[in-house]
Amino acid sequence: MKIAIVFGSTTRYTEMVADKIASRPGFENADLIDVEDMNFASLTDYNLLIFGIPTWDYGEPPSSWQDVWDELDQFDFSGQLCAFYGLGDQSGYARWFVDAMGILHDKIAAKGAIVIGEWSTAGYQFDSDKALTKDKKNFVGLAIDDVNQQALTDERIARWCSHLNSLISATNKFERPDGKNKHCRDR
Ligand SMILES: Cc1cc2nc3c(=O)[nH]c(=O)nc-3n(C[C@H](O)[C@H](O)[C@H](O)COP(=O)(O)O)c2cc1C
Repeated sequence: MKIAIVFGSTTRYTEMVADKIASRPGFENADLIDVEDMNFASLTDYNLLIFGIPTWDYGEPPSSWQDVWDELDQFDFSGQLCAFYGLGDQSGYARWFVDAMGILHDKIAAKGAIVIGEWSTAGYQFDSDKALTKDKKNFVGLAIDDVNQQALTDERIARWCSHLNSLISATNKFERPDGKNKHCRDR
C-alpha cells in the first residue's frame, strides 16, 4: 500500500499533523509531499492520497493550495482512493470552520475519487456546513483544531488513522481503473 500525505501549510500546523499521521501504524512509509513541491504525474503511484489543508481568511484555501487549483482540475482522480484532513479554528472562525477541507473534497470527489475517512462532528462547535457530508452528520475528513483543542489532536489523529486502516483492509479498491498503481497494491 503506497500512501502520500499531500499538505499545504502556512504556519506549519497542517505539516505537523502530516508528520503525526506518518508516525501512526500503517502510515510509517507514507511519503510527505508539500503541495508547493507536488509533481502531479507522481500521484498515480499511490494507492491512497491523504490531502491536508488549513482554512484561512474566512473560508479560503491557503495560497499554496490555490496555486495548484487549476492543475487539480486537469488531474484524473477517477477510482483513486483519497482521504482528507483540515485544520481550523472553531471559536475564532466558527462560520468558516475547516471550510477549505470541504471545498477541496468537493473538487476532488467530483473528479471521481473514492473518498474514505469521514469524521464525526461530536465534540466540535461551529456554524458552517461546507466541510460536512451531504447528510450533515459528519465531516468529510478529519477536522483538527489546534488553536482551541490541541489536547485532543493526537488522540483524534490516532483514532482516524486506525479508522482508515480498517477501511483500507475492508476495501479492495486500491487499484486505479487505469492500473497505473497496480505495482503498489500489496499492503
Ligand atoms: C488570519 C487568519 C484567518 C483564519 N481563517 C480561518 C477560517 O476562515 N476558518 C478556520 O476554520 N480557521 C481559520 N483560521 C485558523 C487556521 O486555519 C489555523 O490557525 C490553522 O491551524 C493554520 O494551519 P497552518 O499552520 O497549517 O497554515 C485562521 C487563522 C488566521 C490567523
